[in-house]
Amino acid sequence: MCGIVGYVGHQPVFPILMKGLQRLEYRGYDSTGVAILNGDLKIYKQKGKVKALGKFVEGKAVEGTTGMGHTRWATHGAPNNINAHPHTSGNGKLALIHNGIIENYAVLKKELEGRGHVFQTETDTEVLVHFIEEIQTLIKAPLEQAVRIALQGVIGAYAIVVASIDEPGRLVAARKSSPLVVGIGEGEYFLASDATPIIEHTRKVVYLKDEEMAVLDLNEGLTIKTIDNQIQTPVVEELMWNLEMLEKGGYDHFMLKEINEQSKSIHDSMRGRLNIDKNLIMLGGIKDYEQKLVNAKRIIIVACGTSWHAGLVGEYLFEDLARIPVEVEYASEFRYRNPIINEDDVVIAISQSGETADTLAALELAKSKGATILGICNVVGSTISRVTDAGIYTHAGPEIGVASTKAFTAQLTILTLMALRLAQQKGTIPEARYHQLLTELEQIPTKVEQALKLEEQLEFIAGEFKDVHHFLYLGRGYNFPVALEGALKLKEISYIHAEGYPAAEMKHGPIALIDEQMPVVVMATNESAYEKIVSNIQEVKARGGRIIAITTEKDTIIEGLAEFVVKIPETAEPLTPILSTIPLQLLAYHIALMRGCNVDQPRNLAKSVTVE
Ligand code: G6P
Repeated sequence: MCGIVGYVGHQPVFPILMKGLQRLEYRGYDSTGVAILNGDLKIYKQKGKVKALGKFVEGKAVEGTTGMGHTRWATHGAPNNINAHPHTSGNGKLALIHNGIIENYAVLKKELEGRGHVFQTETDTEVLVHFIEEIQTLIKAPLEQAVRIALQGVIGAYAIVVASIDEPGRLVAARKSSPLVVGIGEGEYFLASDATPIIEHTRKVVYLKDEEMAVLDLNEGLTIKTIDNQIQTPVVEELMWNLEMLEKGGYDHFMLKEINEQSKSIHDSMRGRLNIDKNLIMLGGIKDYEQKLVNAKRIIIVACGTSWHAGLVGEYLFEDLARIPVEVEYASEFRYRNPIINEDDVVIAISQSGETADTLAALELAKSKGATILGICNVVGSTISRVTDAGIYTHAGPEIGVASTKAFTAQLTILTLMALRLAQQKGTIPEARYHQLLTELEQIPTKVEQALKLEEQLEFIAGEFKDVHHFLYLGRGYNFPVALEGALKLKEISYIHAEGYPAAEMKHGPIALIDEQMPVVVMATNESAYEKIVSNIQEVKARGGRIIAITTEKDTIIEGLAEFVVKIPETAEPLTPILSTIPLQLLAYHIALMRGCNVDQPRNLAKSVTVE
């Protein structure tokens, strides 16, 4: 949801900004822009991706060692050259980039227009840079002070970087509800929405906290203050990810790389947590809150998108194994519907990025009502991981493809570990079953490896269906959320309309859609609902629908019923979603590829949604 990057140092700034923007492109790709401070302010911006800007800037002056860059996911104003960031003040002395939304921009704009300001763009951001200029004009304040005063009059979310012609070698940055990381190099400083543009320059980072400002100055170094001017001691942390993890590693797309990494990422998410010899699960991150969970009257899971689907699987796991009632909520609905939250509730946020605005707000609401709040996040140091009482990292490694794949299966793995641990603590699972599930879980990475070998078959099936307009995904029990996730994956990257449904619910509506053109993906791996799923397949078949069945290696019945049968390895039912998701990811990937879609950066989407 907009990516921002900044640099102050001795190296040429332009290549640093461009490389950084490429890494942040997953956050938005409607337009790209840079501002370079070098005696004057040079601003270059273009609709489209970083590549388009690179072409536009060819042959133009880019000298300078201080600057900022922005990749946009449009909220206010169309994605065109004019609305692209950076935005400038009326006197042309200030440049500003912004990730977030200034909610009271209309009021501010009106006021500023009354004072003679003329706006060039439709954005909320331009209002902020004019506001800072107005404060400087009125009280002759240096940039830092003017930014601070302006932010006190702003309602909304922001991560901003501002530069002034009058203050060379200096960037002023601030954040509220949108992430911002400072990188500390040798006599140079970096700023970025996440650590990915920083990692190739330095491993030392400071995660700015909410309502903090950072001043990066070539001579004076780094200063961190709160927006109300209290000096803060920077907490310098060491980045764990390395550069290789951010590259495509020989794959055509990040999504394919990430799909193929799942055996390893699942293994990594279990590492040090599952000890099969001792028959033990240890979840150090939530150790101090384990009793809270064991005694919880209810668990509420809040999340968005794919993470919400993981939450639904979590509901089946916690209820089935640990017998704890669970509610799974879209964070965006939960936060606004006056939910009943009690002090003995445990609210778990699931988020790959750890930055999703709605999930964060839902957590804050739960916290204000006294609930215990926990997080399952992938990005270490992310906002959600910081505001929660405790949490578990998924350790799936950086996920760059906008459509989530390995983060999802890592989330499922963590939820399984949690459910099993709680079940054992509560005594809701027989010892033999517990041991069997632990053993199965340990084998999951190997089975994922086997499932990935189905790629060729799925590529073939993709060729059969690449031109259809609709898809239906059906599943029962543990596979119902997988059906939702499969449909979401296809929608996101191929732009084919797809719906996921509980298989039995099909009779109450979607069955009307079925004709000879309609492909129906049926998840038929669960032991407990097998016969029922077979009946559902018959119902689709009777209406001419084309069936792609995801079933297991031992299956013999469905072979005779479905047009295509994809066989994944056998596992225990609660673990099925981790495996049954994989063919659906591969199917979506190949269909999107055959349709010529941009798999890693689907239109209109962003990986990290930091606006509500
Ligand atoms: C966006 C992404 C999805 C993701 C969702 C939630 O919509 O495109 O892939 O599932 O946000 O993100 P989170 O980082 O909170 O898991």
